[in-house]
Formats: sequence, C-alpha cells, structure tokens
Amino acid sequence: MCGIVGYTGKSQAAPILLDGLSKLEYRGYDSAGMAVFDGKKLRSEKTPGRLNALVEMTHDGELLPGTLGIGHTRWATHGKATKENAHPHFNAAGTVAVVHNGIIENYLSIRQRLEKKGYAFKSETDTETIAAMLDYYYEKDPIEAIIKVLHRVTGSYALGIIFTDHPGVLYAARKDSPLIVGKGRDGNYIASDVPAVLKYTRDVYYIRNEEIAKITGDEISFYNIDADPVTEELHTIEWDVNAADKGGYEFYMMKEMSEQPKVLRDTCDPRIKNGTIVFDELVKDEKIIKKASKLHIVACGSAYHAGISGKYVIEGMAGIPVEVELASEFRYRNPVYIPDEIVIAVSQSGETADTLAAIKEAKANGVPVWAIVNATGSSMTREADRTIYTYAGPEISVATTKAYSAQIAVFYMLAMMFAKTRGRLAPEREEEYIEDLKRLPEQVEFLLGNKERVQKFANRYIAAHDVYYIGRGIDYGIALEASLKLKEISYVHAEAYAAGELKHGTISLIEKNTLVTAIATQEELYDKTISNIVEVKSRGAFVMAVTNVGHSDIEENADFVIYIPSTNKYFANSLAIIPLQLFAYYVSAGRGYDVDHPRNLAKSVTVE
Ligand code: M6R
Repeated sequence: MCGIVGYTGKSQAAPILLDGLSKLEYRGYDSAGMAVFDGKKLRSEKTPGRLNALVEMTHDGELLPGTLGIGHTRWATHGKATKENAHPHFNAAGTVAVVHNGIIENYLSIRQRLEKKGYAFKSETDTETIAAMLDYYYEKDPIEAIIKVLHRVTGSYALGIIFTDHPGVLYAARKDSPLIVGKGRDGNYIASDVPAVLKYTRDVYYIRNEEIAKITGDEISFYNIDADPVTEELHTIEWDVNAADKGGYEFYMMKEMSEQPKVLRDTCDPRIKNGTIVFDELVKDEKIIKKASKLHIVACGSAYHAGISGKYVIEGMAGIPVEVELASEFRYRNPVYIPDEIVIAVSQSGETADTLAAIKEAKANGVPVWAIVNATGSSMTREADRTIYTYAGPEISVATTKAYSAQIAVFYMLAMMFAKTRGRLAPEREEEYIEDLKRLPEQVEFLLGNKERVQKFANRYIAAHDVYYIGRGIDYGIALEASLKLKEISYVHAEAYAAGELKHGTISLIEKNTLVTAIATQEELYDKTISNIVEVKSRGAFVMAVTNVGHSDIEENADFVIYIPSTNKYFANSLAIIPLQLFAYYVSAGRGYDVDHPRNLAKSVTVE
C-alpha cells in the first residue's frame, strides 16, 4: 500500500525523501511524487510508474531545493495510476500539500459539498478532498484546521502535510494506517515504516490513532483530537540497518527464506526456559489460559494459513477447539462468542486493515485478544490485549516466508503451553517436542542447502499453467500456503485441495502433465494421500511429492520427491514448506519476474 516519507531539518529534503521512498518500495505502488518547500516556493513532481522515473526527472532531487518535504508512493485505489492522481495533492492556491495513505470513505459527499462552495478538483482521489478541506478550515492554526478535517472524515488515514504559511513545520496525523515519527540529529522524519528512516535514526515515536504530530527540525509535539498536548514514548529500533537490505541476494525473498533458521531460533529460544515453554507476555492471563473454551484465530493471507496449521496442532496437542477465520469475513459476520473464548489475531505487519478491524470487533464484545505480530509497535500491538512477537525482523518481500515460519512456530509453542496447562502433555513428550523444536533450524538449513535441486525441477515447470497442491490434515495447511506462494509471485494458476476433496470435482481438470504437488508428512494419513496420488497419476498428472525421509516407496507413484528430515507430526509444516517456497521463488525468477514486487500486490494491506 502507499508509502509516506516526510522530512524537516537542516539537510536538503528531496534526496532524503527519494531514499526513504526507495526503502518503502516493498509496500507496492504504481506512481510516486514529492513536494519540497524552500521557504518561498513549494515545488512538486509526480509521475506514474516506478520511483526511478521520479529520481530521473528531479535529477536525484536537485531540482526540488528546500529543507521541508513530503514524498509518496501511491498504490491506486480511487482513480488510475496517473500523474494527476499521484500524491502530493494541493489546494488551489498551492499553499497546502498533502500525502495520504488509507481511504476516506465519505470523500464523495464531502467533495460534492465543497464543489457547491466553489472548489474544483483535478484528480479522482479521495486525498485531494483533504487538501481542499484543509484550505476551507484553515484560518491561522494548522492544528485547528487538521482537527476540523479529522472530525469530518470517516475511514483510515496516515497524513503528511505542509502549510506554506509555516515554513519548516511538518504536520502528520493517523488513524488505522501506519505512520511513525523519526527523531534525528539534523532533522526529523515521518514514514509509513521504520526502514525508510533507519539510515538516519533509530529513535522513533509511534503516532497513536487520531493523534496529530507537529514536527520541526528540532522539536516534535503530539496532540490528541481535542488539541490537548500529549506525550509519546520514544522507542529505539534494535534492528541492524542491514536487516532491511538485500545483503547481496538478488531478491529479498531469497534472503528472507535463507534467514528462516535464525528466525526460528530467535522466536523459539527465548520462550524455552528450563525445558518448558514460557510466554512472558501471557503471565497475566494464567486464568484465561486455564479456562479457555475455544480459540478463534483471525487473519488474512498467509497468516490465515499459519492459523489453519495452528488449528491442527493446538487441537491435536491440547484438545481445545479452534476456529480459524478470514478476518475480512469475521469482522462483518456478527460472530457468536462463547464464554471464555480467546481471539488470536495473526499478522506480519500488524497493520492489515481487516485483521485490525477483527481485533476491535472482538474487543468491543469483551473477548480477550492476543495478537501474534512481527512489526514492533504496529497498530495491532496497541489494540490487542497481549502481543506475542515473532522475531523475524523486517520482512520486505511481498511474499511472506520467514514471518510465516515464525508464526507457525509460535503456534507450536502455544499448543505446548495449553497442553501442559491442561495436563495433556506428559513430561517425556514435552522433552521430545522441545528437542524437535530446537532441531528445526538446522533441519531448515539442510533443506535450504538443497535448493539447486528444487531450482532444476522448477526450471522444467516454468511454463506451467495450472498447479494443484494436495494434502491432508496439517499437510492441507501447507498446501494452501504453497499454492498462494506460487500464484502470487509467478502468476501461475495454483489451487490447494484437501487431498480427499479432489475427486469431488477438481480431478476433472487433471490432464496429461498437469503438475500436482502432494504433501504427505502425516504418517497416519500417508496411505490415504498415496491413494490420491495414484488417482491423479492415472489421469496423467506429473507428481511432485514432499514426504518424510524413509518413505522411498512413494517413488513408485511420484515423479519427483523431496524428503524432509524427521520431526514429530506437528512440526513437519516448518520443513515441508521450505522446498515449496523455493519452488515458487524459482518459477518466478525463472520467468524473469520481479519476485519481491508482484503485480497488483502490496506488502501491507492497510485498506479493505
Ligand atoms: O501483514 P499480514 O500478515 O497481516 O498480511 C496478511 C496477508 O496480506 C499476507 O500474508 C499476504 O497474503 C502475503 N502476500 C502472502 O505472501
């Protein structure tokens, strides 16, 4: 989704804005623009297409002199990706400039009212309405004008604003869209995400919902929507600057897949204490944990798939009923809650609009909410009652890999914790699971080490039109995630089926050489899955299989087999997904696509 960067201070703003926007490219965008004020003149450039075009047309920013500026990468919602619709947007006099991330839901009625008052609009965007409203309400005090606007808009926003009457001052506000304020030495910053400012500072404030920031080169103040000054806590970002760089890899996705062993260690090790699983963040919820009648997992995309795997693991180990639901459905469905239910939201970004709304819906009904989140300080960490961090570090590639792996590992540990609390985990079993958990990183490393074999196989299937993924139980969860990985980055039609379901319709699509990927890691379901492999084979399918080491008999029916090292049935997900992530990567890279920036997709989906 859209990316915002703003700067005010002693340095030239434009190069900082361009650099910051380049760090937000991962979010997905289709046009870019910026406006810079030198105290006398507000200059702007915008263009559809990639950020490079903006870099070239401004001569690396030199053509826009000034030390106050706002920049934007736009992911089109209202109106096509054109120069007119690109941000910043201005009032008619060119004295107010605005960049915006989010959606103003009531912009049409506001626009019509303003048109009646003589305002004219150049773009189709909802954002231009904000510039016009700021013009309408502005007398002398920008904060007062911003507050009047915020009281009148519905929807979500992160805003960066310049008023030319106030040189050197950058204004910002947010609701349900991410925005941080960076405190630097030679100036201060705003940005949609930390990587944009990390080169300049590690000290950041997280602006709260419906809060406004007034930022000069050496001062930062915050106000609530009633214009009362409020204090915000300064946070220090612990990541290494290189964590958000490609580190010599061609694509972030490969770098992030390669980081999975470390991510598993970082996420699990701090929670293994004296041979048992301890979630420090949940200590206050001991009673809730003991009484829990049901867990309700809500999430989108891959996080939802992590939830599906989590369901199998938690129900299997701890015997607690688990419902997994797409957040976009949950939020509008009026879910029926049962006493002692816990809602668990899962999200890499912590900003996904639907998951955030689902958290609010559950909280409004008095249900305790835990959030499994990767991005430090993100909106979900502030909305949920408890945050369980996945320590995957910054994930830049649109296709999630390492954050997903961390999420499923958190579910293993939650399952063990619930099982133990309920007396369903024998000490010797717990010991075995902990040993398996500790072994996962090196097993993942081993699978990553065999990537050339997967690459060779992927090269054969670069021209595939349709790929089917089948599995049973946890393997069905893996199939869902593997098929999403392939389709989102390689644009190959891919579908996942619970293996037993295939013959209820979809098997009619299998013809000679259709690639079917069968996942068979669950021993008790192995023979059943083999029968499904035989069914598709006899209709001409070419079968790639992922199974446990030792099952060489599968080669009688499968054409290409990847063996995963042995672990317990619940943790197999962490291993089986690795070659399937690699397969998706190599098909995409082999087709010559920009693996990290698949078309039409954004990393962080902050609008509905
Ligand atoms: O940031 P979140 O985990 O909430 O994002 C959820 C989905 O948008 C995300 O998993 C998406 O499906 C990815 N592109 C999958 O690779």
